[in-house]
Amino acid sequence: MRADPAWRNKIGKPLSDPHWLAVHHQAKIRERTAFAQRLAGLAPKRIVDLGCGAGDWLSTLDTVVHKNCEFIGVDVDTSAMEYARDRLRGRSRSVNFLTFDFTLEPERIPPSDLVLLFNMGSFIDEFEALLSQLHSVVSGATVAVRQYDGSTIRIGPMRDSQRTLFENSLRASLKASKQFDHYALDRTLVAISASPYRHKQMEFETFSRFSPFSNEEQTYIELTLDWIYDHLSEDGRREFNKWRCDLAVLPTDSRSYVCEIDLVALLS
Ligand SMILES: C[S@@+](CC[C@H](N)C(=O)[O-])C[C@H]1O[C@@H](n2cnc3c(N)ncnc32)[C@H](O)[C@@H]1O
Repeated sequence: MRADPAWRNKIGKPLSDPHWLAVHHQAKIRERTAFAQRLAGLAPKRIVDLGCGAGDWLSTLDTVVHKNCEFIGVDVDTSAMEYARDRLRGRSRSVNFLTFDFTLEPERIPPSDLVLLFNMGSFIDEFEALLSQLHSVVSGATVAVRQYDGSTIRIGPMRDSQRTLFENSLRASLKASKQFDHYALDRTLVAISASPYRHKQMEFETFSRFSPFSNEEQTYIELTLDWIYDHLSEDGRREFNKWRCDLAVLPTDSRSYVCEIDLVALLS
């Protein structure tokens, strides 16, 4: 049983627990490896991952990016970065980790030709200001942005009345959070549009799976459902439990599914 219902990391950032991030990453590894390959095609010499957490993305990039490319991870969470350092130790490339808040000290962001900002729109209120700072502090770099959005995550089948109940209850519970924004996709897109970058390639990446799920996908779905459950009202929880029981005993010829849409952008 996990200790924290919000999946916090050691310094209290929600949805940043290394185990949760790893489960999330592995469930989507097919799409994420394809995106890493696309980044490898830019032939970067130095990649800076802002908010690198436990290094899931750097580990995937390590499998596809030329060994001459240096990796630098930046995060405020020292313990997640210790884990990342261990994972990437002994690789035949230069890998370094820096601990600081890049919104408070943007001038410390090292020069590079590729900056990653993955799911950071949820934590950064002034995303447009950050992009402007990156444009001047790391001038010439391509910035890769990815942003999930809670409203695009769909697990089913589910009756529409149940979906409305769960979504409304979750929104009401998360609205109070000053720590992160579960619905940051549009805000991120607006910030990208207003940013000083000349070239802004934007698209949506779809993650979708039908049952039977792999172990990694099943674990991701179950943890996502646990997380939603923890944020529901009493009524919501009762109905949610009923729905989960129904889902568990679906006839074998019925398919269940998970799908999500991430905003993906390359700015240069
Ligand atoms: C949701 S995780 C995302 C991790 C990774 N980018 C990914 O997509 O898998 C957010 C990470 O950003 C870090 N973080 C949040 N705000 C930060 C800031 N202002 N400066 C540095 N790190 C930050 C958190 O500690 C956490 O490790």
